[in-house]
Amino acid sequence: MQRTLVLLKPDAVQRRLMGRILTRFEDKGLNVIAMKMLRVTPELSAKHYAEHVSKPFYPALEKFITASPIVAMVVEGLDVIRVVREMLGKTNGLMAASGTIRGDFSSSKQMNLVHASDGEEAAAREISLYFAPTEVHPYTPCLVDWFKAPDEA
Ligand code: PPS
Repeated sequence: MQRTLVLLKPDAVQRRLMGRILTRFEDKGLNVIAMKMLRVTPELSAKHYAEHVSKPFYPALEKFITASPIVAMVVEGLDVIRVVREMLGKTNGLMAASGTIRGDFSSSKQMNLVHASDGEEAAAREISLYFAPTEVHPYTPCLVDWFKAPDEA
């Protein structure tokens, strides 16, 4: 089992898309094992987007991500980092394929609705930025036998 950090960004909250986006992850059979609403501070933004802080677009990104509440969640599943990134589609909503979350709901590179970790190292780092270990609640869904075969680890 793998874990990833997913953020429903301010545009997802403001546009009342939280439920529809969450439903996509639940429909896929992924486990949401932690979830909270919070306001990202400039300090948290700089930690989260550490690799982008020196890029020209960072001030706009920080202004956007701190402008309104977000929903942070930890999603668990087989190969979940890749699966969720593919469900989101390309970063720029204009380039994202139809059927993906961004492809269906976003026309922007900044207001692309959802963030998801891009690798195992990033996932571990990002999850620890948003959640204490005691806030993460893994569980075995009672329908697990109908989502995957016993030999699918
Ligand atoms: S890069 O430079 O290619 O590594 O950046 P990219 O991976 O495409 O995007 C990283 C995150 O930065 C956001 N982003 C922007 N925000 C505001 N303005 C501009 N021009 C811009 N370009 C990229 C983008 O939405 C990504 O956010 P996350 O939360 O990681 O999806």
